[in-house]
Amino acid sequence: MKSYTIREPDDAQARVIEQAFPRLADLPDALRRKAVVAWHSMVASSGYTTLDEVPFSSGCPDRLVDHINDVVEAGLALADVAARRWNLTVDRTRLLAILLLHDLDKPLLSVGTREDHHSTPVAARIPHGVLAALMLAELGIEEDIVAAVVTHATHASLRGPEPEVLILHYADLFAADHLISQTSRMPFFRMCK
Ligand SMILES: [Fe+2]
Ligand SMILES: [Fe+2]
Repeated sequence: MKSYTIREPDDAQARVIEQAFPRLADLPDALRRKAVVAWHSMVASSGYTTLDEVPFSSGCPDRLVDHINDVVEAGLALADVAARRWNLTVDRTRLLAILLLHDLDKPLLSVGTREDHHSTPVAARIPHGVLAALMLAELGIEEDIVAAVVTHATHASLRGPEPEVLILHYADLFAADHLISQTSRMPFFRMCK
């Protein structure tokens, strides 16, 4: 059975997503609309009632929404440094889309509350990133964005060479480690092997 269904949000439901992720406003209309449909559909397909209830990660009570917005702001700041210091050309629309959508499937990967959640059966058979990529492809989002999302997890076996992928990687781990450091889990930056 498929883990998600695409659902068109009504105006009020779309506003909830747009208010949760303020940088959606910087995307072109068509892409913003698809991103809103994707987030609404993923939460509506999950065991969580609202986006607000979705935890960032296993053992972390922090909101996924805050993590996404942290990654967006860190990624945009890194893009500014890369452009100013290294003359790196970054496609800001593509970058913003992958920053906003990289953890799209997380509502399907756990269930419960932010304080007390556990992994869903699908989390044991489909790697993080894949369900998000399937939905984004189904919505007609371009393959560059889908590829960055499906390969962003730390256990991915391959990642593309584009500067947007580089920036997502470090923005994501930077923001994730801030939250993981407040738990009993070992943050990525302290794994010294
Ligand atoms: Fe992730
Ligand atoms: Fe993330």
